[in-house]
Amino acid sequence: MKNIVILISGAGSNMAAIVQAAHQQRWSERLGIQISAVISNKAQASGLAWLQSCSEFADIQTEVLEHTQFASREDFDQALLKRIDVHAPHLVVLAGFMRILSPTFVAHYAGRLINIHPSLLPAFTGLNTHQRAIDAGCKFAGATVHQVTPELDHGHILAQAVVPVLAQDTAADLAARVLTQEHLIYPKAVLDFFKLEEASRQAM
Ligand code: GAR
Repeated sequence: MKNIVILISGAGSNMAAIVQAAHQQRWSERLGIQISAVISNKAQASGLAWLQSCSEFADIQTEVLEHTQFASREDFDQALLKRIDVHAPHLVVLAGFMRILSPTFVAHYAGRLINIHPSLLPAFTGLNTHQRAIDAGCKFAGATVHQVTPELDHGHILAQAVVPVLAQDTAADLAARVLTQEHLIYPKAVLDFFKLEEASRQAM
């Protein structure tokens, strides 16, 4: 089995989209890909409660590792890395995981750590992406799935989705429109990651 570990901090709707796609498309039976664990840095993350409430996903472990319990970013990242590696992951998926990761952590998962960011990268790295897109007068906004590198919200782009910015949009309106697209592109990008890997393995 090829294991996936998903990291969240909040609502976890992208995590839910991936978990549901894996279930509906029978990734485990067809492709030998399974979601082993969802780990949150916040005990209150509603995504954890959602997952725990779904009996059909009972085989996915839910875990909490509170970053506030650690003296430094490096200490937290080391503890997180140990937790993740228990699952021997093929791929680590950041899904609304609102922590900057240390270079050591990123290097450990080089090539197998991906993120979704709510903008059309390379535009609008960082926070408040929707308000910034509105303020800049953008006619289009969107989301990007990318490989994680030590530089925040950079790294090879794996997938993007584009949505229009409408005249009366608030940041919340735009965020909701973008999020519906995130739920489509992220599961597909995860699957494509494994398909690409399999294709390059067969080409060797
Ligand atoms: C999503 O919009 C995701 O793109 C964003 O947080 C939201 C999480 O929603 N991620 C970032 O801003 C990362 N820098 P979710 O918890 O419902 O998946």
